[in-house]
Order: sequence, then C-alpha cells, then structure tokens
Amino acid sequence: MSLLHVDHNDIVRFASDRVNLPKEKADEYRAQARRLRERLESYLAEHPDFTLRKMLLSGSLAKGTALRSLNDIDVACYISGADAPGDVPKLLNYLAERLRKAFPNFSPDQVTPNTYSVTVSFRGSGLDVDIVPILYSGDPNWYGNLVSQDDGSLLLTCIPRHLEFIRKRKAAHDKDFAQVVRLVKYWAAKTKREQEGFRFKSFMVELILASLSDRGTEFSNYPEALQAFFTYVARSDMRERIAFSDYYALSTIGGLTAPVQIIDPVNLKNNVSQLYTRAQADAIAEAALEAGDAIDAAPTKQETVYYWQKVFGPAFQA
Ligand SMILES: Nc1ncnc2c1ncn2[C@@H]1O[C@H](COP(=O)(O)OP(=O)(O)OP(=O)(O)O)[C@@H](O)[C@H]1O
Ligand SMILES: [Mg+2]
Repeated sequence: MSLLHVDHNDIVRFASDRVNLPKEKADEYRAQARRLRERLESYLAEHPDFTLRKMLLSGSLAKGTALRSLNDIDVACYISGADAPGDVPKLLNYLAERLRKAFPNFSPDQVTPNTYSVTVSFRGSGLDVDIVPILYSGDPNWYGNLVSQDDGSLLLTCIPRHLEFIRKRKAAHDKDFAQVVRLVKYWAAKTKREQEGFRFKSFMVELILASLSDRGTEFSNYPEALQAFFTYVARSDMRERIAFSDYYALSTIGGLTAPVQIIDPVNLKNNVSQLYTRAQADAIAEAALEAGDAIDAAPTKQETVYYWQKVFGPAFQA
C-alpha cells in the first residue's frame, strides 16, 4: 500500500479537519436531545398514564459515529398503549399530537409529522430533532417495533442493545473503530453524491466493520483498515451473510433468500439489508474495488494524493 506518500497521520489529520463532527458540536447536540428527554420525563412524572414512555438518543450521535455533515439528531420514542394506531401515517400524527402535549413551550408548528418520523424544529438554535416512533409493549430490554426510515415497515429491534453492541466493538479498538466507521461513511456519502441510485446504509457499514473486528482486523492504521474494508466488500461481493452471536446462536438463523444478508445483531429475523437488490449490492462491491485499487501503491506523492482523492474527494490533501 502507498503508505510511503500518504500515511496514517495524513488520514488522522483529514478526519479531524473534514470528516468528524467536532466534539463541542456533538456535546451540544447530545445536550439538546437530553433536554427533550428530561422534559418528557417530568411530564410523565405528572401524567403516569401518558403513552409516550421514553425518548432515547439513537443513531450516529449516540454511537459516536456522526459525520461533520450531520443534519439532524435521531431520537427514538417508545409509544405504548392500545390506542396507539398501527397505521404509520396515523401513528405519526398521534405521536406529533402527544409531543405537543408534553412540550407546551413549543408552538404546534414546531412539531411536524413527516413520512416516517416527526420533526421537532428548534428555529435557529441547534439542529432539528428527528423523532422515530417505536411501538412498545413493555419488554424489559426495550425491544419494540421501530418504524423503518427506509420504507415505513415495522422492524422488531432493540436500540439499547444496538448501542451496547457498538460500544463493545469500540472498546476493542479505543477510538479507532468509530474513526474507521466515519471514514467509510464519508466515502459512502461521496460515492452517493457521484453515483445515481447508490445506497449504502450507515448501519450496514458499521455491521460489516464490526464483523471484520470480530474476525481480528486491526483498526489502528487507518489506510490499512480502510484497505481491509474495501478488500472484504469487493471480495465478498456483498453476498456473504454477516451475523453475530452476541444475542442469539448463529445456527438459529436459518435459510434466507435476500441477496444481501446483514442480520440485525439483536433480532435474527431482521435482515438490515433486506431492501438491497442485486444491482445495488454489485454497485457497492464495484465502488469498493475501485477505492481499494486507488489507495494501493502509486509511485509518486502527487499520484498517491490524486488516488486518495478518488476515495475521499478533492478536500483530501496530504
Ligand atoms: N434495518 C434496521 N433494523 C434495525 N435497526 C435499524 C435499522 N436501520 C436503522 N436501525 C437503527 O437505527 C440506528 C440509525 O442507523 P442509520 O443507519 O439510519 O444511521 P446513523 O447511524 O444515524 O448514521 P447517519 O445518520 O450518520 O447516516 C441504528 O443504529 C439502529 O439502531
Ligand atoms: Mg442518523
């Protein structure tokens, strides 16, 4: 690999200048989500029968994998009760109406239902908070039916366990696991901008990297870790099943037919990449092959930087 001209420290610098959400921002947005959660908690203390049971920071801000380009704060909201509608558009209106009750200091138009979530907008201060409903029937581990942000279907899953799952992989690699996740997400975002129809969900990137971590990949040298990711994705052609034994035995998964099989670590019946077609899987494998080739040896510094720019765009300098 072309470590001669572009090395680990160049990637570290690029990540901190361009890729990562600065820590002050992350802290500010987490505090914003915390204030909303606490407001719901105090409302619940006075209205114990209220059907919004809990709000939980989810998504990249909770996992420490957010990019600088973050544009909303993901919060999951657990909704219980027999009168919560099962129909998604109705559920979103119901959630919005309840949130307006719990947050009377927001004007009603600051709480708006969209296709699969409800946005709480802060008018100038901070980011908007995107509240995703989870239908909840009292599971002590906080399993519930999450409204998919891809197609509105209900996915039985467990956000606290997802956070625990990622925390475990982060603990194995100090700061490096989250950093490599952010670098790969940055590459995926650039590829999305350049290639019509390209998709590669952040959670899938994280699960692939978690699987590499479990199989002994090192993350401490970023060019090498990126190369390991691109090589794996290109070689497997996105056709190898990825699954984890943290919360169930692998032998219980059984036969699946979807072309891409990246199984939710907390529910063996939920294929996180269920919606990915063969063509979309091929496009990911092909883009990874190109990226892997690009960061392989080049004879001069200038050429090496040129090739890394194919992976990260013209903002990359070394
Ligand atoms: N198909 C799914 N099945 C189960 N849980 C999911 C699924 N998709 C998303 N999630 C949950 O939602 C969280 C957010 O994942 P997602 O890939 O949408 O974005 P993210 O991690 O917030 O990254 P970014 O917003 O920066 O792209 C995941 O950590 C997971 O808990
Ligand atoms: Mg997100």
